[in-house]
Amino acid sequence: MHVLKMFDLTGQVAVITGAGSGLGFQFAEAMAEAGARVVCADIVAESAEKTAAHVTQMGGEALAVRCDVTREDEVAGLFAAALETFGTVDIAFANAGIGDPQPLLLHEYPTENWEKVVAINMAGVFYTCREALRIMFPKKRGKIINTASMWGLAGPSSVFPIPAYAATKGAVVNLTRELALQYAPHNIQVNAICPGFFRTRISDGAYDDNGFVETVSAFTPMGRVAEAAEIKGTALYLASAASSFTTGLMLVTDGGCMAK
Ligand SMILES: NC(=O)c1ccc[n+]([C@@H]2O[C@H](COP(=O)([O-])OP(=O)(O)OC[C@H]3O[C@@H](n4cnc5c(N)ncnc54)[C@H](O)[C@@H]3O)[C@@H](O)[C@H]2O)c1
Repeated sequence: MHVLKMFDLTGQVAVITGAGSGLGFQFAEAMAEAGARVVCADIVAESAEKTAAHVTQMGGEALAVRCDVTREDEVAGLFAAALETFGTVDIAFANAGIGDPQPLLLHEYPTENWEKVVAINMAGVFYTCREALRIMFPKKRGKIINTASMWGLAGPSSVFPIPAYAATKGAVVNLTRELALQYAPHNIQVNAICPGFFRTRISDGAYDDNGFVETVSAFTPMGRVAEAAEIKGTALYLASAASSFTTGLMLVTDGGCMAK
């Protein structure tokens, strides 16, 4: 197959959680540019609708669904809506996630913050992967891409103390490995993206704060934060036939942080 043809997603259907902003928006744009029909899910209905409208404006096909990934009934509803509108699901991005509401050492860390982060970053990924696999398993074909983080591979306290984020992203990393093994014989590839610092709306607009950007740029060997669009190639590689023999990979896209 011609190498550029390997990246062609014409006719495929991609579901993306957290598609209303940041990396999820970029995943939606990348999937649509490669020819996929896109289901844009977000807890904020207007954000999901904005992304879907953007895809439609590009000449693509999109469906917006309001979905809170912490609610298993809503995640089931999301995949049911994808099936009803587009007939199948080929690619699923379990991407919705939040940072710790407040960076704190663990002895000061409130239980409610812990539970919130775990519900979105961990249970949300579990529900999303499970619903995707319920569709992909019978047809013996599919691609799952979980958004983990470089902080799933190393402790973040060298920059800031975010224990729940570290714990949940570590869990996403190892769940990805486990699912890769479970579904390798069934032609379903399960991989994760481990981003470094990308300019998005995460953590209440931390990237609007010059002090934050300076701190994380100084930590990053490439000396800058990434623009959100720089995730698109990584996403397309993992969503397409270009990664047909790749499963259980933590694809680190971090300007060199994890090389330190
Ligand atoms: N931006 C970074 O530097 C960075 C680095 C590593 C990993 N990540 C991960 O990337 C993913 C996307 O984050 P982002 O940086 O694009 O942030 P973002 O805040 O710009 O986008 C996250 C989106 O998820 C949605 N969302 C939040 N809670 C939800 C829920 N319960 N159900 C459904 N949708 C929900 C938000 O409304 C928002 O549209 C997250 O998993 C995050 O942990 C981001």
